[in-house]
Parts: sequence; structure tokens; C-alpha cells
Amino acid sequence: MDPKITRRDLGLVAAGVLSIGSAGFVKIAAAAASDGDWLDTIKAQHEELDRLLAAVKSAGSHPEQVAAFKKFSIYLAAHSLAEEVTVYPALAISGSEAASKQLYGEQDDAKVLVARIDDALSMNHAAEVPAMLDKLGNALHAHVAEEENQDFPTLKAKESSTMNAKLTSDFKMAFHRAAS
Ligand SMILES: [Fe+2]
Repeated sequence: MDPKITRRDLGLVAAGVLSIGSAGFVKIAAAAASDGDWLDTIKAQHEELDRLLAAVKSAGSHPEQVAAFKKFSIYLAAHSLAEEVTVYPALAISGSEAASKQLYGEQDDAKVLVARIDDALSMNHAAEVPAMLDKLGNALHAHVAEEENQDFPTLKAKESSTMNAKLTSDFKMAFHRAAS
């Protein structure tokens, strides 16, 4: 992987972690992660991501769009990190290594696209933003469909109740750490 991209991604996550407690985000995060098992929690977070991305698209001014995108990208960073340190490793360990690698790769691509949109917003290149937001939305929907319709239900069915309980606890803890 390009080391510049890696540093950029880490910087984005770090920036998100530093500012994630502001603007009511913790409240949103808690609402999305409070009840249910790991799969229910992830599905609720996917819905929240959809809502936050729609708010970016419908923002009425440049400053509003910048603020909405910041909120979306911070939430996405916390959600992605939690999946990458809990569920994706569990997929690989349980024998679905190819699916795990594919999901990691898709999230890496999404992080770079998020950085491109962040750059365009910073430079006030408004004309470039809508197409990139559509591309990101389509990529996220395809990624979420793989997770919710195939990979994650398969994992949940394969794991014992003890391991599913561990995944629930580990996922929620990872998300809350990234979101506090
Ligand atoms: Fe996800």
C-alpha cells in the first residue's frame, strides 16, 4: 500500500477521534450502538451512515456541507475501525478469508474516496463533490449489501453463542473507544 495513503488514512481517523465527542456525536453513536447483538448494532449504524450521507447531499450551503461531511466521515471512521478489528478478523479466522480481505479492501478504497471529497470541500471545488458523493454512496451500499445479506449472517450462524457474545462486546467496545 502507498505509505502516503496509509498516513493519510491514519490522520483522518485520528482527526475523527479527536473531534468525535463534539456536536452531539456521542449521543448519535450511543443511539446506534446501544441495544442488540453485533449484527443488529452494525445494521443500525449502516442506517445512521445513510442518514448522515443524505444530510451531506442535501446541505444548503458550503459551510453546512463541510460540517455534515465531517460528521459523516467521523462516524464512518469509527464504524469501519470497529469492523476491522473485530468482525473482519472473525470472518478470516472462521474460514472466510477471501470475504474478509474483500471487505478490508473495499473499506480502504472508501477511506481514500472520503479523503478526496474532504480535499475537494477544503478547496471549495464544489462542482466535483456531487459525483464523488454518489460514487461513495453506491460503494457503501454495495459493501453493506455484502455484509448484511451474505458475509455477516453466515458468520453469525457459524459462531457459537459464546463467540457471538464476544463479538458483540468487542464490536461495541471498539466503536465506543473510537467515538469517545
Ligand atoms: Fe459496515
